[in-house]
Amino acid sequence: MKNYLKLIQNNADWAREMVGKDADFFSKREQAQTPHHLIIGCSDSRVPLELMTGALPGEMFVHRNIGNQVWETDMNILSVVQFAVDVLDVEHVIVCGHSNCGALKAAFADSAHGLIDHWLSDIRSTMRWHEDELASCATAEERLHRLSVLNVLQQVGILSRTPIILDAWKRGRRPMLHGWVYDIGSGLIERIVEQVDSAEMAAVLLPKN
Ligand code: CO
Repeated sequence: MKNYLKLIQNNADWAREMVGKDADFFSKREQAQTPHHLIIGCSDSRVPLELMTGALPGEMFVHRNIGNQVWETDMNILSVVQFAVDVLDVEHVIVCGHSNCGALKAAFADSAHGLIDHWLSDIRSTMRWHEDELASCATAEERLHRLSVLNVLQQVGILSRTPIILDAWKRGRRPMLHGWVYDIGSGLIERIVEQVDSAEMAAVLLPKN
């Protein structure tokens, strides 16, 4: 219970601090949001998307799930992407993976996890497509890092093939797509792929089959 109440106390302190610095901090954000970024991150509690990028309230539209995945059948993420692109007109859509991701570790493990195995199936497909490359990694750490990179590239690739993004590009609209891997151990972002803004540029991201 104490841990939970601490959140409420922190919130009151934070709100007071923000208003202390800028009396209109909250009121000027009340009517509308104009974020320039949509970020798709992992649900992992060690990946504080706004905190690590210095994004203030109103600056970043956020979607999170286990393994920062983009599924073409997931109404949840597709709704988020469509609203961000077609209504908010964000300039950038970022897929952000991270080091030591539990989802990727679970995908490597042979053991069954129940329902979550379905959610991990796309990551396991990525592993199969890049089997040789992953097998050639010298250590388990290196293999996990490589998979985090490959997973981000795969998810940016899937995003680039959604009708939402393709239609936006056809209309000469934003956004640019980017892929990052956040390193929990250093707090720093590794830039994997940047400024993808055409189907041609995106074509190299996904396996040919
Ligand atoms: Co994760």
